[in-house]
Amino acid sequence: MREYWLDVGAGVDAEHWAATPAPAYVCRVAMDPLLTSGMAASGRLAALPPDMRRVGGEIRPERSVEAGKAPSFLPFRSDVFTRVHCGFVLHLYLETLERLVDETHWVLLPSGELEVFIPHFGDVRSEQIIQRTTSQLEIRYGRVEVRRAAGPFTTFWADLYRDCTYRLVCRKEPSK
Ligand SMILES: C[S@@+](CC[C@H](N)C(=O)[O-])C[C@H]1O[C@@H](n2cnc3c(N)ncnc32)[C@H](O)[C@@H]1O
Repeated sequence: MREYWLDVGAGVDAEHWAATPAPAYVCRVAMDPLLTSGMAASGRLAALPPDMRRVGGEIRPERSVEAGKAPSFLPFRSDVFTRVHCGFVLHLYLETLERLVDETHWVLLPSGELEVFIPHFGDVRSEQIIQRTTSQLEIRYGRVEVRRAAGPFTTFWADLYRDCTYRLVCRKEPSK
């Protein structure tokens, strides 16, 4: 039986999934708005293992602060992923938070896990981002585990922020 994992805001080279060991029955999807079909066709992107797919796409709320950008959602059906990862996106694009929470809950299978990485730079703004993210996740998912990330540090950003990253983990409620 196949299993699917999704990385939202994965970057063009999908470093996180590429560095995360996955059993043979897992298909990994790496989604990022920077990915275009022209870029994929150029042959200049890093080669990925055969079970991994790049997808161009983004999550974006109504009335985005970026002028001219249309609202957008995860282009997947409900209840399909067992794991969703989102690393180092929210501290830059906090407007996507509520949509990330809703959309990941939609695409996760019951008992599926969402993992979010957020750096904390020791300032009030970082504290607010982590607090707000935790609250929004709790509303939708219930319990949220918030801990300092212990590695492995799989991407450029994870390595850069290895001493100041928090890992937030929550699960979609199991089916009744
Ligand atoms: C700092 S990078 C982190 C990339 C990767 N997750 C990592 O750990 O290396 C932030 C990523 O978020 C993506 N991004 C920006 N806006 C986004 C949106 N509205 N929805 C999804 N991803 C977005 C960017 O294209 C970029 O690749």
